[in-house]
Amino acid sequence: MSVEELFEKARVAALSAYAPYSKFRVGAALVADDGSVWTGCNVENRSFGLTVCAERNAVCQAVAAGRRLFTAIAVATLDSEGPVGPCGACRQVLSEFMRPDATVFFGGTGLERVTATIGQLYPLDSLRELAR
Ligand code: THU
Repeated sequence: MSVEELFEKARVAALSAYAPYSKFRVGAALVADDGSVWTGCNVENRSFGLTVCAERNAVCQAVAAGRRLFTAIAVATLDSEGPVGPCGACRQVLSEFMRPDATVFFGGTGLERVTATIGQLYPLDSLRELAR
């Protein structure tokens, strides 16, 4: 699957976002080591801190279906022209299930795309030795 096909899955997922507070819809498409793709959207809450980001939602969908290792993720925002990268919490959760060289793509409605590894986005991981 091409990167743009992965982005398209992330954009479709973002259409399901529950984001009445921020009005900022995000979708994620996560590739497992067997090639299967798992999607998620952000799900907000009136107690704002309970909001679940698209990336963590996708990880939970995939892990609940028995996947444990991911090679790439695309994160698409529908309400910003430029790319918006994963928050700190999501970077740590992704790093639990990705090798440091796994790829993270993010993009908005414009043409700009950012490509990084999870190791770049979450470096100097002091808890790495505790991870499985
Ligand atoms: N959000 C995500 O779902 N993923 C990101 O990478 C950035 C932020 C969500 C959280 C909240 O619902 C909204 O976007 C605004 O921060």
